[in-house]
Amino acid sequence: MIIFEKVVKKFKQKKVLDNVTLTIAPGEFVSIVGPSGAGKSTLVHALIGAERIQAGNIAVDGYRVSEMSDAEMQYFRRKVGVVFQDYRLLPQKTVFENVAFALEVCGVEKNNIRGRVNEVLKIVDLFDQANHFPHQLSGGEKQRTAIARALVHEPNLLVADEPTGNVDPKTALELVKLFLEINKRGLTVILTTHNRDIVNFLRRRVVKLDKGRVVEDRLASEYL
Ligand SMILES: Nc1ncnc2c1ncn2[C@@H]1O[C@H](COP(=O)(O)OP(=O)(O)O)[C@@H](O)[C@H]1O
Ligand SMILES: [Mg+2]
Repeated sequence: MIIFEKVVKKFKQKKVLDNVTLTIAPGEFVSIVGPSGAGKSTLVHALIGAERIQAGNIAVDGYRVSEMSDAEMQYFRRKVGVVFQDYRLLPQKTVFENVAFALEVCGVEKNNIRGRVNEVLKIVDLFDQANHFPHQLSGGEKQRTAIARALVHEPNLLVADEPTGNVDPKTALELVKLFLEINKRGLTVILTTHNRDIVNFLRRRVVKLDKGRVVEDRLASEYL
């Protein structure tokens, strides 16, 4: 369970998250929408503990993100898969190495890495491109590499901030289908987007932010 309770985030004096209250159940698929500057990325950053909040609480599976020690935060971050618009791949590493690196930095033994990486590369359908470098990949393939990397720690939650922002509409739809498949595997998925076609295609819960406030929270079928 993810709970935002009266969350306030300010930059200088400006409230970027203004009293956000939101509950997301395990296994839900939620799109966060709203105009540019509405606070979508800030909400994501607050959820993953990358931005401190000034008031309220954020809890994930009973753990308060705002009150974690550094050690708890390190563990927590591994249990949340995160995907960004700009992929954030290491250019000198192959697809396989990019994903493997996420395990290496956590001290996972080499023997345990190969199998796990191959498993997630199959989920995102990149097994055959494992030895390609990022510059040899399409935007969709780069993002699927980033998704594989996000899955490699077997998280319960996948958070994607505008993951389709840099790809064409057809590729965006493929990525959205992949997120739905990942959700079917039992992961909670939170996706920010300002693409209405995606939201309409998904027919899942939609939370709309405007000027840091939740202004709508409904099923996508009602959103049409
Ligand atoms: N690090 C920061 N310092 C100051 N203002 C910021 C910072 N990050 C975001 N903002 C401001 O917070 C507001 C919300 O930004 P953001 O969460 O990125 O919106 P969205 O992702 O919905 O486009 C914007 O007005 C933005 O300028
Ligand atoms: Mg954003």
